[in-house]
Amino acid sequence: MDENIVWHHHGVDKAKRQQLNKHKSCIIWFTGFSGSGKSTIAGALESALYHLGHHTYLLDGDNVRHGLCGDLGFSDADRKENIRRVGESAKLMVDAGLLVLTAFISPFQAERDMVRNLVQEHEFIEVYLDTPLATCEQRDPKGLYKKARAGEIAHFTGIDSDYEIPQHPELTLNTAELDVQACVAQLIAHLRTRNIIG
Ligand code: PPS
Repeated sequence: MDENIVWHHHGVDKAKRQQLNKHKSCIIWFTGFSGSGKSTIAGALESALYHLGHHTYLLDGDNVRHGLCGDLGFSDADRKENIRRVGESAKLMVDAGLLVLTAFISPFQAERDMVRNLVQEHEFIEVYLDTPLATCEQRDPKGLYKKARAGEIAHFTGIDSDYEIPQHPELTLNTAELDVQACVAQLIAHLRTRNIIG
C-alpha cells in the first residue's frame, strides 16, 4: 500500500446505514461442491429476506465470472484470486449495510478464512453445504461432472481438484436430507439468534 494513500472517514457510516435498514449487515458465505445447492439455497434465502423487507445482495460464482472475475479460470491461483476479489466486494457491501449472500465453491480454508478476517467476527457466517459428492454428481444440473469424468474439463472440484471441508462453519446443511425451505428456515433462525435481523 502506497504510504501517500490515506483513509477518508465519511459522515454516513455503516452504523447509520444499518439503522436506516433496520437490520445489521453481514456475509452469509455458502461453500460446497458444484451441485451442492449453493445458488438454489442462497437464492431462496434472498427471496425470503426480500419478502421480510430486508436489504440484500447475492454474489453468485457463475455470474461474477461473467464480469468482475471474467479473466479467471480454475487453477488454484485463479480460484484464490476469485475469492479475494469477491471477499473485498462483499466487505464493501457489508459497509453499505447489506445482507450479502455469496455462492462460491471456495474450496480452500485459507481463502475462506481470509474473507472471514476482512470483516468483524460477528459479520461472517460460513455455511457448509455438506452434500455428498455422489449426490452432487448424480444431480449434475449442468452436465459438468459428466464432462469432467470424460476428461473434457480439467481441475474439476471433487474430481481432480481439491475441496477442503470447513473446519468450523457456523452452520452445516446437508441438502440431500433437507429440502430448500427447511434450509432457509434454519438460516433465518440463525440470523435471528445472532440478532442480525429482527
Ligand atoms: S471457485 O472454486 O470458488 O473459484 O469456483 P466458483 O467461482 O464458485 O465457480 C464454480 C462454477 O464454475 C463452473 N465450473 C467449475 N466448477 C468447478 N471446477 C471447474 N473446473 C469448473 N469449471 C466450470 C461450475 O458451474 C460452478 O458452478 P456451481 O454453482 O458451483 O455448480
